[in-house]
Amino acid sequence: MSSILDVENRTVAAENLGRLQRQIVDLKKQRNAVILAHNYQLGEIQDVADYVGDSLGLSYHASKTNADVIVFCGVHFMAETAKIINPTRKVIMPDVHAGCSLSDSCDAADLRKYLSEHPNTYVVAYINCSAGVKALSDVICTSGNAVKVVESAPKDREILFVPDENLGQWVMEKTGRFMKLWKGFCHAHVLFTHESITRVRQKHPNAPVVAHPECVKSVRMLADHICSTEGMVKFARENAADSFIIVTEEGMLHRLRKEVPAKTFIAGPTNHCPCNRCEFMKMNTLEKLHACLRDLQPEVEVPEEIRIRALLPIERMLQIGR
Ligand code: 13P
Repeated sequence: MSSILDVENRTVAAENLGRLQRQIVDLKKQRNAVILAHNYQLGEIQDVADYVGDSLGLSYHASKTNADVIVFCGVHFMAETAKIINPTRKVIMPDVHAGCSLSDSCDAADLRKYLSEHPNTYVVAYINCSAGVKALSDVICTSGNAVKVVESAPKDREILFVPDENLGQWVMEKTGRFMKLWKGFCHAHVLFTHESITRVRQKHPNAPVVAHPECVKSVRMLADHICSTEGMVKFARENAADSFIIVTEEGMLHRLRKEVPAKTFIAGPTNHCPCNRCEFMKMNTLEKLHACLRDLQPEVEVPEEIRIRALLPIERMLQIGR
């Protein structure tokens, strides 16, 4: 039972949060800034963003903005992608150290070495990679368009898919196209297991399991639907079920509960935890967002030579579409 003190503390915390959010909105106007946030960001950040979405939607949004400043609430490769597309705009992020295990699993020097030994390779790079890796790639994809991107790859070239082995396997299953796969994985999505998802499924037998393709095969095989985070919003809206098991990072539940309020969303558990949090995504906080809008830093920069080369495969992806 909550004490009067608990209730008072919660009220004060909610007032402070609201005040900070209003200050962020005011600063955003003063700076002519746009706030872009990934679906995995904290709910209180999603609530002040101009656009919340998946990596693909965020890339399209970044390519269309007229703002002087892009505040990217996500992980580093996402802000870097926005900078590659927008060299003349200032791109800042609340915590520049918010990295990505997938991006870290593919080093540009290792990829360059592989390509020197396998010169006829066509590189499809998942957007979760560094600007240096993008610069060595032929085309970029996200989980929202990976199948379409691979289907449009030249038939006479051997494909190397970097850096996510699990997404790559899923795309191979969907397209029937053989690809060599880099051995990278998302440290958060691989924590979902066949056992943990079987248990939650048994508890909620009528709730479809919706999983992200970064999950391992033994989890994907339990899913009723596999899609990007944006695809999850569409599926929840259109499917007749009234509750869903969501097998991805827990920030997604905020967006789903906000946009599809009549339905129930159950977080996919891991073996040790009732949900799954990416600690990198959660490095961005409302306080850091406020400070970065106030100080216009930390800024994300990409060396021009790499930016120009990395832009080509991103533009190819944006042309292929969703
Ligand atoms: P999407 O943004 O394509 O849904 O992917 C989410 C993700 O796992 C990013 O690492």
